Amino acid sequence: METAKMISSNRESKPKNDLQDLLATLPSEKDWDGAPLYFYKGVWYPVFAIRGALSFQQHFIAQDTDIILASMPKSGTTWLKALTFSVVNRNIYSPKESPLLTTPPHELVRFCEMDLYSKIQLPDIEKLPSPRIFSSHFHYETLPLSIRDSNCKIVYICRNPLDQLVSYFHFARKFERENMEPLSSIDEGFDNVCSGIQCYGPFWDSVLGYWKASIERPDKVLFLKYEDLKEDISSNLKKLGEFLGLPFSEKEEKEGVIEEISKLCSFDNLKDLEVNKTGVFECAGAPNSTFFRKAKVGDWCNYLSPSMAERFGKIVEEKMAR
Ligand code: A3P
Repeated sequence: METAKMISSNRESKPKNDLQDLLATLPSEKDWDGAPLYFYKGVWYPVFAIRGALSFQQHFIAQDTDIILASMPKSGTTWLKALTFSVVNRNIYSPKESPLLTTPPHELVRFCEMDLYSKIQLPDIEKLPSPRIFSSHFHYETLPLSIRDSNCKIVYICRNPLDQLVSYFHFARKFERENMEPLSSIDEGFDNVCSGIQCYGPFWDSVLGYWKASIERPDKVLFLKYEDLKEDISSNLKKLGEFLGLPFSEKEEKEGVIEEISKLCSFDNLKDLEVNKTGVFECAGAPNSTFFRKAKVGDWCNYLSPSMAERFGKIVEEKMAR
């Protein structure tokens, strides 16, 4: 078994008694790796995120200076965390002394429902230095009210759905499947994905919610695309800085600060750092290395047949036209 195959315990962990009554009432399906997914208020949650999701929804109090990074899994969340952390803290750490060199992006910007609120119902986050940066795979409509009602900023990253699903397939196949054969083919589970059943799916509802919010409230929600970042990271970093109220000055531009941040956060740089090659991101039960695979646009061509791509593409198109 490869070293990347490991800890499936968190992903399949049995919820405690008080949650079991709720879960018993919810539609349930299996994720690609066999771990249970539960459909709660329009979203398919992995079992290990349910408790945290409820606490996050009930207890999170946003501050106007907060920054929330939102995404579907496998859409570039890790990259967005590294970029945002670097933009926000550029006057504190030069790229040569960035904490990103020694700490995985998921520890510097923590997931709310899967990490902070899953460990403790009321995490002590009040006194974190401002601006606090958090991340979540919640859909826009399910975010805690205080996030939507406050002046805090939300940055959403979206990715081509075919690449997102192929990336998730590769992620899921790293996990052992309890009482199931190892996941061998992308055909398995594809019907589910076409019905919107995937971790934090339906994909289209996640994207559409943030897309509409970004049009209605452009000062509040920034909608980024993974592919645009790949094509032109500099102008997207500028956009991010401006949106966060931290625009790059002319002096910074001349001094090459934008290029330095791009390089620091680039796939090639992050994936080769010792800290990202080793260790485990415990709340998802995933080695840090599983967050860095190929980072290619259009990699779906290598895994999906033309008919699968057409089928899924059509579904997404139809759903997005709502
Ligand atoms: P692939 O599986 O297509 O390679 P997430 O961070 O939301 O889990 O997304 C993971 C995807 O983003 C993986 O895609 C991963 O390789 C890619 N990725 C991780 N870090 C990246 C970076 N710094 N730049 C570009 N892509 C990155």
